[in-house]
Amino acid sequence: MLPVPHTAIIVVAAGSGTRLAGGAPKAFVGIDARSILRHALDGVFAAAPMQVVVVAPSGFEGQAESDLRAAAGDRADLARVVTGGATRQESVKAGITALWGDIDTVLVHDAARALTPPAVIDAVFDAVDDATGVLPMLPVVDTLKRVDGEAIVAAVDRAELAAAQTPQGFPRALLESAYAAAGEAGVEYTDDAALFAAAGHPVQRIPGSERGFKITTQSDLERARHLLAASAAAPALPRVGIGTDVHAFGGEGNLWLAGLEWPGEQPLSGHSDGDAVAHAIVDALLGAAGLGDIGEHFGTVHPEYAGAHASVFLARTREILAENGFAIGNVSAQFQGNRPKFSPRRAEAQAVLTQILGAPVSVTATTTDGLGFTGRGEGISVTAIAMVVPV
Ligand code: CTP
Ligand code: MG
Repeated sequence: MLPVPHTAIIVVAAGSGTRLAGGAPKAFVGIDARSILRHALDGVFAAAPMQVVVVAPSGFEGQAESDLRAAAGDRADLARVVTGGATRQESVKAGITALWGDIDTVLVHDAARALTPPAVIDAVFDAVDDATGVLPMLPVVDTLKRVDGEAIVAAVDRAELAAAQTPQGFPRALLESAYAAAGEAGVEYTDDAALFAAAGHPVQRIPGSERGFKITTQSDLERARHLLAASAAAPALPRVGIGTDVHAFGGEGNLWLAGLEWPGEQPLSGHSDGDAVAHAIVDALLGAAGLGDIGEHFGTVHPEYAGAHASVFLARTREILAENGFAIGNVSAQFQGNRPKFSPRRAEAQAVLTQILGAPVSVTATTTDGLGFTGRGEGISVTAIAMVVPV
């Protein structure tokens, strides 16, 4: 017997799929041999054990039940199907009524986001507490304009915007009362985070995933088909990447290296704090994931990173990887240089870097026997390798 979970996920699949026009309610349209709903449930059952409530269109409960049984495996006891309503909000409400008494946390997920990685579901699961909602989001990449008919009225700063995905996670008691309040007010919200926020509760954002897109139109369905075909052709093996960085000693202040400040040591010159260890790690991680390099994401065209420390670069790199479906396996970096003497602070540096990246980071140091620019004490040279895992 599995322990009774305290978290549930409501998978709303009761929409008709008007925009997809796939000949059946959207959840039952096939991506490959499996339906949109089945793929969504495969992701759900690969995440942490939760009560799973599937909300199906009226008349399609049996079909939803078959997909649910097939995906659930030995977790079938945790799963059930209920009938949805005329709007998404009504459907979520129907799901809420099916929650067990022990449930204190609820995730709400669109079946239409069929390829959402289990890691995103787990990240939402982990981030919800008893007061705050959690919303996975992606940065907006397109340039946006405010329009009025054919006219362009204004530019919109995309840095202020982000796109919302699911699953969204909430403390059950507050979500239930927010749903009751929305029902009384007769207001329809486009997602649960908006409904929850309207009731006065805070919502925290975490990184979403490119694979968490919503299948809305035929071109979205094609994209899902391509992604599945690509992952079938190339099984999700770990990937490795390499990064190097060289900085000369120079400038004012203390040295920053391997995420630590080194009082009394000569600093390295550079656009940011000159932390060559952090920079080599960023390149190794981006290279492993095939996502470009440090110049592209953090270079001089991004003045916001001038003077930034390793924590900023590395945390953003971790986010970029997560948004593109990669978890970090581990990182190993080695610097060549006469100074600073590293071994007394190795454990401290590794702990800081490991904490920022959420994966083991080891750092070693060596001198070059007086040879080359590092041997002459002109600067530091770093090599890093990283392993990332598609999730
Ligand atoms: N949904 C639902 N009940 C509804 C409407 C929508 O459970 N009455 C679910 C859909 O099944 C989907 C999610 O909410 O998983 C997001 O909705 P959307 O993408 O708009 O799906 P549809 O409403 O089915 O599509 P369309 O708007 O094109 O008709
Ligand atoms: Mg809809």
